[in-house]
Amino acid sequence: MGEVVVKVDHEIKWIKHYSSCHKILLVGEGDFSFAACLAKAFATASNIIATSLDSRESLAMKYTRATTNLKELEELGCTIFHVVDANTMSQHPELNFKYFDRIVFNFPHAGFIWREHDILKILSHQNLVKGFLRSARDMLKENGEVHVTHKTAHPFNRWEIEKVAEEVGLRLVDKVLFYIWDYPGYENKRGDGSRCNESFPVGVTSVAIKGPDGDRVVVTGNGVDSAELTRSLRTKIGDATIVSVQSLNERDGRSSLEATAIAVNSSDFDGDELNPELTLQIRSQSNSWV
Ligand SMILES: C[S@@+](CC[C@H](N)C(=O)[O-])C[C@H]1O[C@@H](n2cnc3c(N)ncnc32)[C@H](O)[C@@H]1O
Repeated sequence: MGEVVVKVDHEIKWIKHYSSCHKILLVGEGDFSFAACLAKAFATASNIIATSLDSRESLAMKYTRATTNLKELEELGCTIFHVVDANTMSQHPELNFKYFDRIVFNFPHAGFIWREHDILKILSHQNLVKGFLRSARDMLKENGEVHVTHKTAHPFNRWEIEKVAEEVGLRLVDKVLFYIWDYPGYENKRGDGSRCNESFPVGVTSVAIKGPDGDRVVVTGNGVDSAELTRSLRTKIGDATIVSVQSLNERDGRSSLEATAIAVNSSDFDGDELNPELTLQIRSQSNSWV
């Protein structure tokens, strides 16, 4: 009988904060493009459990690429569960007594019922984040981390995620700038309403410039079009007058590589770089591990 050579590839692959050695739970996925991005980077998804609140049927109706992404994930060995509520996931029959190195919820959002700055809306977002963090706390391995990627512009900063984390016995260990281009193929989705399949602006930074003509706010975006950039600028500066919005390399009327918007007379700005998206890295406060 000939010799059989079995090659075991032990190479650990990394993408940003995540490695093929981590046991990873993804929560509140939109079109599963974040899960697919990690899976492709690792060339396997056997270490990933990816979940959505939506049913499979609903995903297929909401997102143009969900079915393709799910198929790719399954081929790479991903475990996928639908109708998983972040508030109660630790009690889910398939997740009960499973523990993770990384539990990730990108851009948690409770839906578009009220306007973002309404107190009821902010409370509903906080309830979602609190329920998620409480449940995630019970599913962390020793030295495990919960990651929440979140916008820091007003009114999103009023969610006070750091405080919410403390209320459930977790503590913030780091805040890391989030750049969507670190995750090829990932498309952050609005996830709700008639525009659920659309992305919202991320990777936009603001620069405040003080000059003789009054304050100017320059917002530059990477991978966003001028309409998205204008929306983002409005969120950041409220009523200031937008004097110019320019997209460089705008293609197909939509995607651009760089865009710049300038507004004057904003009183809110005194920093150099403002309101970026951040990934909050959160750990247990106590030493009593599962
Ligand atoms: C703004 S979208 C972000 C989607 C996705 N994480 C992304 O980055 O593209 C908010 C997501 O939160 C999910 N969500 C809202 N409430 C949830 C809950 N109770 N449990 C799990 N997911 C929830 C929605 O289904 C939606 O997919």
